[in-house]
Amino acid sequence: MSAPNAPRQLFVTTALPYANGNFHIGHIMEYIQADIWVRYQRMQGSQVNFVGADDTHGAPIMIAAEKAGKTPQQFVADIAAGRKPYLDGFHIAFDNWHSTDGPENHELARQIYRDLRDIPLDKGGSLIEVRAVEQFFDPEKNMFLPDRFIKGECPKCHAKDQYGDNCEVCGAVYAPTDLINPFSALSGAKPELKTSEHFFFKLSDPRCVEFLTHWTQDGKLQPEVANKVKEWFSVRTNPDGSTSEGLGDWDISRDAPYFGIEIPDAPGKYFYVWLDAPVGYLASLKNLLDKRGEDYNAYMANPNLEQIHFIGKDIVTFHTLFWPAMLHFSGRKTPNKVNVHGFLTVNNGEKMSKSRGTGLDPLKYLSLGMNPEWLRYYLATKLNNRNEDVDFNAEDFMLRVNSDLIGKFVNIASRAAGFLTKRFEGQLTASFGEQGSVLLYDIHTAKDSIAQAYDAREFGKATREIMLLADKVNAYVDQHKPWDLAKDAANNEALHQVCSLLINAFAELSRYLAPVLPSLAQAVEAFTGTPMQNWDTTGYVTRIQPYQHLMQRVTPEQLEALFEPPAVVEEKTIPGGEEIAPTISIDDFAKVDLRIAEIVNCEPVEGSVKLLRLTLNVGEGKTRNVFSGIASMYKPEDLIGKLTVMVANLAPRKMKFGISEGMVLAASHADEKAEPGIHVLHPWPGAKPGMRIH
Ligand code: MSP
Ligand code: ZN
Repeated sequence: MSAPNAPRQLFVTTALPYANGNFHIGHIMEYIQADIWVRYQRMQGSQVNFVGADDTHGAPIMIAAEKAGKTPQQFVADIAAGRKPYLDGFHIAFDNWHSTDGPENHELARQIYRDLRDIPLDKGGSLIEVRAVEQFFDPEKNMFLPDRFIKGECPKCHAKDQYGDNCEVCGAVYAPTDLINPFSALSGAKPELKTSEHFFFKLSDPRCVEFLTHWTQDGKLQPEVANKVKEWFSVRTNPDGSTSEGLGDWDISRDAPYFGIEIPDAPGKYFYVWLDAPVGYLASLKNLLDKRGEDYNAYMANPNLEQIHFIGKDIVTFHTLFWPAMLHFSGRKTPNKVNVHGFLTVNNGEKMSKSRGTGLDPLKYLSLGMNPEWLRYYLATKLNNRNEDVDFNAEDFMLRVNSDLIGKFVNIASRAAGFLTKRFEGQLTASFGEQGSVLLYDIHTAKDSIAQAYDAREFGKATREIMLLADKVNAYVDQHKPWDLAKDAANNEALHQVCSLLINAFAELSRYLAPVLPSLAQAVEAFTGTPMQNWDTTGYVTRIQPYQHLMQRVTPEQLEALFEPPAVVEEKTIPGGEEIAPTISIDDFAKVDLRIAEIVNCEPVEGSVKLLRLTLNVGEGKTRNVFSGIASMYKPEDLIGKLTVMVANLAPRKMKFGISEGMVLAASHADEKAEPGIHVLHPWPGAKPGMRIH
């Protein structure tokens, strides 16, 4: 089989990362995998729209934003602002990066929902159903609690402080209502059971079951993924550990307060984040096409358009059941392929934490001057089209880059270029001798097989084939020894042939590697004058520019520095129980006006066991009224006359007991239960009320 010749129309996505943290190396691996595939397709002349976006909604992000003292919108905007250095740094060429909170997504998600809700009776009727659900409610925060924000004692082994869905000590799986002495992880309050109406997508409906039974088994999924998915049609495990037959209905709504998209005609109800997240693929595409003045509906209506998702193995259910069913029954095009990859581990490490990732910080990698194409190449050698995990191993990385990529491949050029420039003014001959011509022919005929490997996402196979060709070229070098030929002017013609052959071989191998090494390919294009954007480029290199180093070696020092643990911050056991917040600039810090304050008066607050009312002097010629939740630790009379630190430019806040005109600084553990207590800050002698803290 040869490479397909009709240009394909491709709409390609990677999973939309949660906007609650920076990219980790697992994300970067997914993007590199998709980017290699996309670059290869573009070299084949295919028209590709390759898009990503931030997955912005849901309770965890809402809560993280609150903790950071930001609106959710500001919080996700700040995360989005940090994306570019990673994507540019690793040469990941998305055509667009958008947000699931963009207007396109609000509109599309609501429209898809309406289409599912309003399916006419003669087509089987609505696939949306409203049901009462009993759920834990936090009376202090005034919100329903997601399972992972409920904690308590494990009903099986009685371990304390376990999450609402399973016990990390004994592994038991249960419903949050089974916990002994449950409490809200947000406020510490005892949650109450409350009933609320939830919206369900009826995945158990025979129409869905029938559609998905076919859709998941007709070649859109890798065989091992299709087999796994098949199991979900027969048995499923319920939260309480019991099992049921077949697909279960899907709860797609959450109650306010929720950062998400409001459900049409249901005030106070929001789409569960996983309903609108994949719609974000379409929203990002639409945003891109709108910017270009192209028509989204016309684009999607093209029967030849292939919609292809790259995802990790942990989010298969969403992409192979919910997502295709949502699309199909709302009258839309369903994905043509869902390509599932495994997880990246680092130095045989345990699986990286999904949200944080550990071990290899992508920005640190770049800041150490490490070449992004080393990582792209290394990952390519390890990737195939199955969903196996991939390990980044430091020694293996160094070996593959230094001995294969540089030793076998890049060195071909450096060995030949000097002679051509010095002895032949950079001019190449097109006669390579018989052996040279055979070698070039071998390289040329490998093209289709390498193409197929790329197309099938068998990047390990593609790079292996390319390196085998490089081995042949090196054997040719060893046999013809240009450095010996150069010793005697009588061998000039042979030297010219050998070196010309080497550069031509190198140019062709560079083109084969261009999807993996786009920046190196560009440098080779400048060096040889051979175009690198088209897979089927033919013709010989006729002259070269003086050779400049194409790639350095990895050094052990770089790897040591890369994996050196961060100096001060202990990763897992921060005594305060809370991770250090994302970096801010000095300008951000300067926005917070911290002042020395004198506590001129302090009294208990009637009706509150937590609060004290402080009267503070910050040298403004008037005093301020501030409420502070420190009553459990201090007697009012002990505080009067003392100095402390306050945020002097905090917007006044209306509280039940009056207006609070600032905030006193105090330290506490993130988890009140783990370590109760709150400790007011107190300056060293010499500080005066009103002094600014820098
Ligand atoms: N927001 C959801 C996806 C919504 S898609 C409509 C999500 N986000 S995530 O940030 O947790 O993960 C994003 C992608 O990164 C997923 O495909 C996930 O599988 C992948 N990875 C997360 N950790 C990974 C590794 N350690 N290794 C490889 N990929 C990993 O899930
Ligand atoms: Zn337990």
